[in-house]
Amino acid sequence: MENKRLHIIKATLINVCRFLLAAVFIFSGFVKAVDPFGSTYKIQDYLEAFGISAWFPSFFPLLGAIALSTLEFALGVMLFFGIRKGTATLLTLFLICFMTPLTLYLAIADPVSDCGCFGDVWILTNWETFTKNIVLLLAAFVAFKWRYLIIRFISPKSEWLASLYSVIFILILSIYCLIHLPILDFRPYRVGVNIREDMSIPPDAKPGVYESIFILEKNGERKEFTLDDYPDSTWTFVDVRTALKEKGYEPPIRDFCMKSLETGDDITAEVLDDKNYTFLLIAHRIEGADDSNIDLINEIYDYSVERGYAFYCLTSSPEDEIEQWKDKTGAEYPFCLTDDMTLKTIVRANPGLALIKDGTILKKWSNNEFPDEYVLTDSLDKLRLGEERSTDLHKIGWTLLWFILPLSLILGLDLFLVKRSARLAKENQRLINPLIKNKMRKNIVAGNWKMNKTLREGIEFVKELKEILAEDKPNCEVLVCTPFIHLASVATILEVSAIGVGAENCADKASGAYTGEVSAAMVASTGAKYVILGHSERRAYYGETAGILKEKVKLALSNGLTPIFCIGEVLAEREANKQNEVVYTQLADSLFDLSVEDFSRIVLAYEPVWAIGTGRTATSLQAQEMHAYIRSVIADKYGKEAAENTSILYGGSCNPSNAKELFGNPDVDGGLIGGAALKAADFKGVIDGFKA
Ligand code: 13P
Repeated sequence: MENKRLHIIKATLINVCRFLLAAVFIFSGFVKAVDPFGSTYKIQDYLEAFGISAWFPSFFPLLGAIALSTLEFALGVMLFFGIRKGTATLLTLFLICFMTPLTLYLAIADPVSDCGCFGDVWILTNWETFTKNIVLLLAAFVAFKWRYLIIRFISPKSEWLASLYSVIFILILSIYCLIHLPILDFRPYRVGVNIREDMSIPPDAKPGVYESIFILEKNGERKEFTLDDYPDSTWTFVDVRTALKEKGYEPPIRDFCMKSLETGDDITAEVLDDKNYTFLLIAHRIEGADDSNIDLINEIYDYSVERGYAFYCLTSSPEDEIEQWKDKTGAEYPFCLTDDMTLKTIVRANPGLALIKDGTILKKWSNNEFPDEYVLTDSLDKLRLGEERSTDLHKIGWTLLWFILPLSLILGLDLFLVKRSARLAKENQRLINPLIKNKMRKNIVAGNWKMNKTLREGIEFVKELKEILAEDKPNCEVLVCTPFIHLASVATILEVSAIGVGAENCADKASGAYTGEVSAAMVASTGAKYVILGHSERRAYYGETAGILKEKVKLALSNGLTPIFCIGEVLAEREANKQNEVVYTQLADSLFDLSVEDFSRIVLAYEPVWAIGTGRTATSLQAQEMHAYIRSVIADKYGKEAAENTSILYGGSCNPSNAKELFGNPDVDGGLIGGAALKAADFKGVIDGFKA
């Protein structure tokens, strides 16, 4: 009970971590995709701050920005739906492990002022980013360590479709926002903003507090002082600087300034106060501006002259570059100088166009969508683009719809397919074997570790298996049969689980001076309930004869253990078509002395020796034929009911890829698994052979 509660708490915690990571990654991937140029500038900032920008080709920052947003978004979606839990959680952990020390360095050295994790939507200080990464690192570690407890919301069959759609969606979104402008604008210069108002400081706003820092020198030592601790005259003055002591109100726009190239005057106020329309052609570096639309730009300029609107080109480029542009394009419009970063912030295109009126931004265009003569058909006050409007809400709606609708369709289809295949599997089973409806015998998948795993490895394995199966309940009974030394520890760990424990052998004597032997009673005292007897390896290497096995079976039964009794022919016997004969003799010589009650407590395992550990599985037909034969032998000896109630397992190179087919046979009631039982994921794959 206590363990169950603990399990629920653990599963809840892990899924909370997974959803937290999913939300952060989807959000940060999305906001980066919406503004690919913004992320590009950020990557450029980083490369310059680290002095390594020359190492990379010029297209690298843009490529990196798109790749990063795609990776983050896809990882977020995978974590959200529980797709490829191992890969998704490992990649997440790697990513955050890389980011955390980097952000610690940023916080300490402060080479760039904001990390750019969430674009312009949510600007964090470097220390905030580092703290956020520590939280995410913990969540990523928890999600990775216990990834098996992550609940999945989509079947493995459809998960690739959901991941693929997410990648395609985010790539198309990035490309769309590159060609046009960001569909969502979180920057200070979004449509609808009044630049003049957002530059002004309200009269009641708290101003910033600054102080003077004096640099003084004495005996060759330089020190900094403020007015409060200014020293005596033995110190000599060197320099003074002003430092911000307390941050005051900062208006959203602080850096908008237009300096006329012609007159050298600051014409910002004049432009922002103009009650008429003004076109601002924005080319943060005119030498890098796309000149494919120069004719259109000149047409817009002619249109604005004709209609009496102002038109300026804003750039941060030097005069000679501007002159070159004029020569190349025949530009007649006036130029103004504005800060490079401000221009990049206003419009994410080079060149871009903005229409303002009375200081308010009415519309922005990228180079690829400048208005032409078919749009500018009349004076602006008569056109829709001359009206002030904000379009973000319906854009958010459309974007979400483009993501959520197809994804919901995929999920719906997945649900339909899962239900349909479960129904078909049930129907098929009934068709193959009408008795299956009333099948009393158990389906069992038992692992035989043989001589593998140290105690520690064994304990880790069962803990992992227990978690996996607690999350995804098996459709059959599951056993682990371990070497003697593991039994007590493994049985304790699995006490409150649905997984049974068995030994791989027991002595043919009840007790006494048999050095090195382990009795059935000792096995039972560990909490184990099963014991494998008659395995071909014990018959072949340790000389276990039918007579010895008969004793072992009796002792196991009398100590309350269920024997998993192994039978099977060697290759030469199969090739001589003597398999039925061999198997019959093995059964008869060791078991047919038992009463029907005792026999009903036996589980049989047919393990053709030529298939054990060889990778050469018996075909599904060979297995079914032999199992049906064994059942008929039991029916002859103990009656039809006993035969129908005996579980007969198949063993020999059974693995996740063939388990379903083998277990689909009406007389195959599960498997005794060797190699594929040594890794939890493989063993789970075999267990899933009983799933639809
Ligand atoms: P493999 O699954 O490795 O072939 O071993 C089968 C076996 O011997 C189980 O007892």
